[in-house]
This record gives sequence, C-alpha cells and structure tokens, in this order.
Amino acid sequence: ALEKSLRPQLLSQYIGQKKVKEELTIYIQAARSRNEALDHVLLYGPPGLGKTTMAMVIANEMGVQVRTTSGPAIERPGDLVAILNELEPGDVLFIDEIHRLPRVVEELLYSAMEDYYVDIMVGQGTTAHPVHFPLPPFTLVGATTRAGMLSAPLRDRFGIISHMEYYEDADLKEIVLRSADIFQTDILEEGAYEIARRSRGTPRIANRLLKRVRDFAQVQADGKINANIADQALKLLQVDHQGLDYIDQKLLRTMIELYAGGPVGLSTISVNIGEETETVEDMYEPYLIQKGFLKRTARGRVVTSFGYEHLGYQFPQN
Ligand code: ADE
Repeated sequence: ALEKSLRPQLLSQYIGQKKVKEELTIYIQAARSRNEALDHVLLYGPPGLGKTTMAMVIANEMGVQVRTTSGPAIERPGDLVAILNELEPGDVLFIDEIHRLPRVVEELLYSAMEDYYVDIMVGQGTTAHPVHFPLPPFTLVGATTRAGMLSAPLRDRFGIISHMEYYEDADLKEIVLRSADIFQTDILEEGAYEIARRSRGTPRIANRLLKRVRDFAQVQADGKINANIADQALKLLQVDHQGLDYIDQKLLRTMIELYAGGPVGLSTISVNIGEETETVEDMYEPYLIQKGFLKRTARGRVVTSFGYEHLGYQFPQN
C-alpha cells in the first residue's frame, strides 16, 4: 500500500516530464469535453521513468478504469480477446513492453485500435469459423523502451506519441523529497539532492536508493538524511559520484581493459558483464551515452576520453 501511494495519481502531482504533461493535459481535456475516449497513447523511453505511472494517471484524469498487461504476457489471440472483453467504454488498456507482443496478437490490435472490433477464428478444423467481436471505444496506452522497436503499422495507429526523458536533477530532488515525506523520513534538501544527482535521471532508482540511504541513516546515524550520510550510504552501494552503479562501471572497465576501449559489439559487451543484450541496450547504454562516457559508432561502442578519466585510466593518445 505504501509502494502504491508513491505513485502520483494526477497530472498535477506528477513531477517532471513537462513536455509530456503539457501535451496530455490538452488532449485529455479535449477528449473529456467531447465525452470521447482519449486517442491511443504510445509512451517510449528508458525503463523506470514512470511510463506505468503515467498510464494510471491518464486513466484517473479521464475518470476511467485501467487494465494492465504486458507484451510477453499475451501469448495467444484468445488472451487478448479475454482482456478486451472486460473493457468498459472509455477504459484504458495499458500494455507494457508492447514491442514484445507476438505477431498474431499485434495484428489483432490493428482493427481493435482503429475501428473497435476484432475478427477471430473460433472452433477447430471443419467447424472453424470467423467471429466478429465489437468492442467499446477504449484507449490503448502502450509502453516501450524505444519507439523504433515497434512495427510501423502498430506505431502509426497511436495518435499520441510521447517521449519520456531522463529527469533533471531538480525534478528528481522533488521526487525524493515527496517520497521521503510518504516514508515519514527526515531529510535535508542537500541529502535529497545528493540522492537525486546520483540516480541516473530515473525515479525508480532514486526511490530505491532513498530506501537504502534511509536504512543507513537509521543504523549509522540519528535517522536524518543529510548530504554526508547520503554520500556514505551511496559509497557503500557502489554508486559513484556520477551516479554510475556497479554494472555501469564494470561495463566501462571491461571495455577499457579487455578491448582497448573499443570499438566493441553489443553482444560481446553483454556476455562479458553477464547481462542480457536488451538490458544493456535499454538500461545501461542510453545513460552512459547521454552522459558522454560511451559513444556509438558504425563499428561498435567506444569509451570516450571522459569515460577513461572517470574510471581513473589514461586515455590512449596515438
Ligand atoms: N514518484 C515516482 N515518479 C514520480 C513522478 N514523476 N512524480 C511524482 N512522484 C513520483
């Protein structure tokens, strides 16, 4: 229940993602005043930035129910039909990791999204026959780590496409303060800022680090989180001063020590650090690239001079 209250319920409580909020505010108000379902929304961006939360906020703002599922959970057309069958007019259907929907299921979504019906085959062999299944107007909210991973026909059926960005430190600090308040934890602004700036622009990470720093403050100090306590706790968690975690550091160090800084292919990197390629591509790389530790080239990934220096290595000159 505590976990749940961490999620903002309304756009006015949602911190950061100004551009996405501005647009959705208008489209929601317009749809509401016309008494229509909101157009389908595609939310894309790195994991942990609040895509699921935003889907719930959209449903709350529209005053409708939300049904939640994910691409890998819907294996067969019948699974999707069962979910669609539950929808009331105007409801939000949230599909997380929508890029992982099986092809046959994705194809069913086209008519569902465009004209609110699905045609399915019922029965086996000679008794098999098509059934036309009308649906109420609804809003599909899809979440994906990269819009490029969606097929064009599916992507084109979303009327609203919103890109979620890494949060600014100031916004993350507000999120940490809000969460600390919900946890009834004593925290100074400087403590919240220290956690914020070392959370890779990601609220999910900020909230997780806040919990661990709170534990540390409780056991090692008087329970109050200041910048020094946060710094000590984050050191223990192996989160460095740029917010890189153990895996980020291992990734860069492996590239430098085993591959002379690159170019290295994605699968080689993934095998070496023991993570799935998708995790490296969606979670680790985008932040390392945005912060200038890593570069993508036609021949593979390359550690920048900034990356070398940050890890305490001399950048090779030649
Ligand atoms: N908790 C996690 N993400 C949040 C956000 N974007 N706004 C407010 N609280 C949050």
